[in-house]
Parts: sequence; C-alpha cells; structure tokens
Amino acid sequence: MNQTGYTKEVMKHFQKPHNYGRLKKYNGLGKVGNIVCGDVLWLYLNVENKNGKEVIKDVSYETYGCVAAISTSSAISDLAKGKTIENALKINKEQVIKVLGDLPPIKIHCSLLAIDALSEAIYDYLSMGKKPVPGDLREKHQKIERAKQVIEERYKKWTEKEKQK
Ligand code: FES
Repeated sequence: MNQTGYTKEVMKHFQKPHNYGRLKKYNGLGKVGNIVCGDVLWLYLNVENKNGKEVIKDVSYETYGCVAAISTSSAISDLAKGKTIENALKINKEQVIKVLGDLPPIKIHCSLLAIDALSEAIYDYLSMGKKPVPGDLREKHQKIERAKQVIEERYKKWTEKEKQK
C-alpha cells in the first residue's frame, strides 16, 4: 500500500484501466450513480448465445469517478468477460477486492458502483430481449432506479441554484 492508501494493484488498474471506453456493438447497458458521492458509471455488454448459454463476449465501461471506482470497474470487466450471465451476477465485492489486493474501508462503497452497473447491464440485456428476469435482479434494479432518481433530483437542484448566480 502506498501513501494514498491504495495497493499497487489498484494503482495499476487506475493508471491503465482494462477494457475502458464504449463498445461499438453492445446489447446491454447499465447506467448507475453513487448516491454518496454522485459519481457515475456506464457499463456496456456484448452478450452472445453459445450453445444455449448466454456468455459475456465483451465488456467495457465509462467511469466518471474516483480512483477506487475506476480500478474496480477495470477489475470487474476482467472478471465478467467470458462468464455466463448467471455467473457474472454472482461477482461480489469480496472478489473485486481480492483482485485489487485491498481497498481502504472508506472506499468499499465505490466497488459497489461497478457491481451494480454490471447487474443493470444484464437486466437491460434480459428485459430488452424480452427474456425472463430473475426476481432478485428485478428487485435490485428497482432499488438502483430509486437511488438514480435521488441523484438526478439533487443534480437538478444544484443546476437550478447555479443558474440563479
Ligand atoms: S468516491 Fe465516488 S465512487 Fe468512489
């Protein structure tokens, strides 16, 4: 761990994030915001049906956030690539932290942003394709939507205040 409180692995992912950007071809998009800090992450998926299994062929993201948000996005993209959507939904913060060595406790919430974006992109893929969405994924989606509304409301108030200056 260096003086920033981040491990070498975190800094490597932050300085050279893997799979960064927007996919040219995608069929799942997850847009999430962090209610604590207002950071935003968009995650793109290209899912293909291989022998009856839906597999994440490609994944990328655009993250407007802190060092932890960017490095966890990078780690999640590595973890999700090549997995079936069922297995990608099982990726948790402990796995992400393991890839990164560690995260300062105050930054653990940042790792949830990329995990939520991945579930949202899978939700988007399933619902756009009119495929069945598991109940727990639907519940998670509704919770994320409510948080997004709070952020949008907060941002609206801020822009209105700025206009009055
Ligand atoms: S401080 Fe916003 S995601 Fe880390």
